[in-house]
Amino acid sequence: MTKNIVLLPGDGIGPEVLNEAVKVLKSVVGENTFNFEDHLLGGCSIDAHGTALTDETLKACQMADAVMLGAVGGPKWDDPAAKIRPEQGLLGLRKGMAVFANLRPVKVHLDLADASPLKAEIVRDVDMIVVRELTGGLYFGTPKGRFMEDGKEKGVDTLVYYDYEVERIVRLACKLAEDRKGKVTSVDKANVLESSRLWRSVCVNTLADFPNIELEHMLVDAASMRLISNPRHFDVMVTENMFGDILTDEASVLAGSMGMLPSASLGEGKNGLYEPIHGSAPDIAGKGIANPVGMILSTAMMLRYSLDMEKEALMIEAAVEKAIHEGARTADLGGTLSTTQMTERILSAL
Ligand code: IPM
Ligand code: MG
Repeated sequence: MTKNIVLLPGDGIGPEVLNEAVKVLKSVVGENTFNFEDHLLGGCSIDAHGTALTDETLKACQMADAVMLGAVGGPKWDDPAAKIRPEQGLLGLRKGMAVFANLRPVKVHLDLADASPLKAEIVRDVDMIVVRELTGGLYFGTPKGRFMEDGKEKGVDTLVYYDYEVERIVRLACKLAEDRKGKVTSVDKANVLESSRLWRSVCVNTLADFPNIELEHMLVDAASMRLISNPRHFDVMVTENMFGDILTDEASVLAGSMGMLPSASLGEGKNGLYEPIHGSAPDIAGKGIANPVGMILSTAMMLRYSLDMEKEALMIEAAVEKAIHEGARTADLGGTLSTTQMTERILSAL
């Protein structure tokens, strides 16, 4: 049966990088192997429909075999007082697709060790994956909002985790670690936060089912330091939504550019949401210079996790590796290739 893939180009450089990734995908699997269906998400959806995520888009994504997303947001929709924001579309989509696990692999290409502002000897051979909880914690907890209290205004976000939310993400992290070096670092703030103390105890209980996994707990402040002082320490890192958001931006610096990093968001089923970890980069949007690698590697993750096409996933990853090894570089990596030229180099390395 033909698989259905929903494309959400989104805003800024989103459409530019998604377009390139689809070229690579088609060149690996063939022109007509998948059905593609375009939908709006984010700022472009606000402009067209007055909401960042329509029921129609959400439904299409829920029914799809996989969803590829460019990026959302931009200055046009950035007014802090605005009630409708592009990011709501992304968060609503993650929640609506029930993709609770966001996998963000950070692998430093041998030839890019010098592209990082960190010393090459520190970032060389880094190969870790951050498993970020994606549908709970501070992003979604209630109460949430701005309220008047005794004539004073307060802003409230709630950090809440249920045991089952922790268990399923830790389980997934352990399964990933079984196929890697077998080490899981759970990041929390258990010296201060009650939700972290629950997180820690659920972690320990869950580990009973994984006798071959070595579990380590690390406080988030220490983890942020370790991530740049000794990143090779990490194999699989699992953490709550907000910590994961912050730590993965930090981790992207190891890889030389945020433009390099892919992500996969997974739930209980096969369907997943695949997006690069970079944003819509309004400053370079429309210039044709964005690095398409993060989106292209997200496509490889889609083949692996949603479409059972491991061989094709490896082909794409090897082609990226080869193109980079042969010196293909976009501007963010200190090179001069345009978005399309970078893709051409990857296509010819396939
Ligand atoms: C990310 C982004 C999003 C997040 C924003 C755009 C809402 O920073 O995917 O890391 O905070 O999750
Ligand atoms: Mg982020």
